[in-house]
Amino acid sequence: MVVKKQFISSSSPWTEKRKYSKITEIHYSFLKPQLRYALLICVSLSVWFVILRCFLLSSFSSSANNNKKLNVAEKVKTISESSAISRCEGGMSVYLYDMPAEFNKGLLKDCSHLNTYTDMCPHVANSGLGQPLSYMVAPAVATTWFATHQFIAEMIFHARMENHPCRTFDPINAKLFYVPFYGGLDASGKFHSANLTERDELAVRLADYLRSKPWWERHHGKDHFLVLGRTAWDFLRRNNEFGNSLLSLPDVQNMSVLTVERNPWDLVHNQHGIPYPSYFHPYTSHQMITWQNRMRQSSRPHLFSFIGGPRKGVEKAAVRDELIKQCSESGRCNLLRCGKGPSKCHDPMEVLKVMSQSQFCLQAPGDSFTRRSTFDSVLAGCIPVFFSPHTVYTQYEWFFPAGDVSSYSVYIDENVLKMANGTERVVSIEEELLKIEREKVERMRRTVINLMPRLTYAHPNATDSGFQDAVDVALEALWAKRLKLNI
Ligand SMILES: *[C@@H]1O[C@H](CO)[C@@H](O)[C@H](O)[C@H]1NC(C)=O
Ligand SMILES: *[C@@H]1O[C@H](CO)[C@@H](O)[C@H](O)[C@H]1NC(C)=O
Ligand SMILES: *[C@@H]1O[C@H](CO)[C@@H](O)[C@H](O)[C@H]1NC(C)=O
Ligand SMILES: *[C@@H]1O[C@H](CO)[C@@H](O)[C@H](O)[C@H]1NC(C)=O
Repeated sequence: MVVKKQFISSSSPWTEKRKYSKITEIHYSFLKPQLRYALLICVSLSVWFVILRCFLLSSFSSSANNNKKLNVAEKVKTISESSAISRCEGGMSVYLYDMPAEFNKGLLKDCSHLNTYTDMCPHVANSGLGQPLSYMVAPAVATTWFATHQFIAEMIFHARMENHPCRTFDPINAKLFYVPFYGGLDASGKFHSANLTERDELAVRLADYLRSKPWWERHHGKDHFLVLGRTAWDFLRRNNEFGNSLLSLPDVQNMSVLTVERNPWDLVHNQHGIPYPSYFHPYTSHQMITWQNRMRQSSRPHLFSFIGGPRKGVEKAAVRDELIKQCSESGRCNLLRCGKGPSKCHDPMEVLKVMSQSQFCLQAPGDSFTRRSTFDSVLAGCIPVFFSPHTVYTQYEWFFPAGDVSSYSVYIDENVLKMANGTERVVSIEEELLKIEREKVERMRRTVINLMPRLTYAHPNATDSGFQDAVDVALEALWAKRLKLNI
């Protein structure tokens, strides 16, 4: 059984009461004929409205701003692709374990102690979207912008799945099993516990819980998946250092594990990168397209920008010192320095402003290889510049175009930069970026902006946003993986 709710764009007033229907049935089969007719009109009107809007917007865009020929066909394609996913093609269906609260929402009761450095209470609000950025929207418009915490994807994913059209309540016929465990929040709440047994306790109980279920037995958990909002390193404790041992449990190794940063040398091959959540959580494809158009038309006076601070004693982050140096010396770079405590660089709107005024955004490794900032930069239509292959290329194979990484990013090997201090500078980032032809830059930016929907977490209350978001992409990939397993 599956929950369906359909609305194509905010202009469609149609809000049919939720109904339950078999996923094998065709999309609108639960509708009476006259309703079906009304819906058809609604859909046609909505699509027409979107096309018209794209056309109008495109004629407004200044010729200097390159994107005069707004690709209407592309927009429409995005919409039709998304109805394919909401039909959950090929009988794909996902069962959500209804787990004891201690594994997920129960953890939130103690939200002020879920992270040693931060009070997580404001961040776990609104199903993990965090606090609304109400000044981004006109009054009476549903809020789609939030100050979303970077390590909270597991909560948003859960909330999205609860309303997802591919959800089934019938485990016997379910094809995929989602285990809604808030592993990241569990881990970060216990990072500093000296007692290792205590750190691993809930993870071990999770494995016991799953093994006791008949659905686990069927395929030894191969059709099960877990979503973690923190990096894999937090669940791979070595030498009694930080984190827990969740990912080393044999049961967990049989599942697919979705995480914002995978271990690129993962020998089990069960870790899959998913986007960090950014700040935009639209309900509809109309809202998405409107924002994409705004970023297409944004004027970008800065060639490049860097948002970040130095990291002392982290080898992976050594390149940061050089980036800060080069950026502050270049007249074409906008530097937003992060320090301790509150600063502009933690204000989502400041971050987006800097990025939306830049053509390229430098993405240096920080505490780990990946950065939430990569996804903020895509949201701002800013072409990312990477210094490690593990910031994106070895991480998010489901989400970024395979093959030609230069279609959406610039790569400068960090080893070239690390030695490039003082007079010995080997590579100037500014010179490297200036070498790229204008046409190519525009092509790359188009690709980046077109990636935006699939890297975004749609609002969890949107049961069918009309575009394929990060959750839809992940489900599609998990489904393809399961078909390949042939179980
Ligand atoms: C989603 O809808 C429910 C029910 O209307 C509401 O209580 C909840 O606050 C909404 N969630 C968000 C994140 O807006
Ligand atoms: C460590 O934690 C476990 C589980 O919470 C507990 O049973 C045990 O007594 C603790 N050990 C010490 C030395 O505190
Ligand atoms: C993992 O799956 C294999 C089959 O592929 C099975 O033999 C093994 O028992 C499973 N491990 C666990 C812990 O369920
Ligand atoms: C460049 O870096 C190397 C090693 O990090 C250091 O030994 C050398 O003194 C630096 N050169 C300058 C000019 O800063």
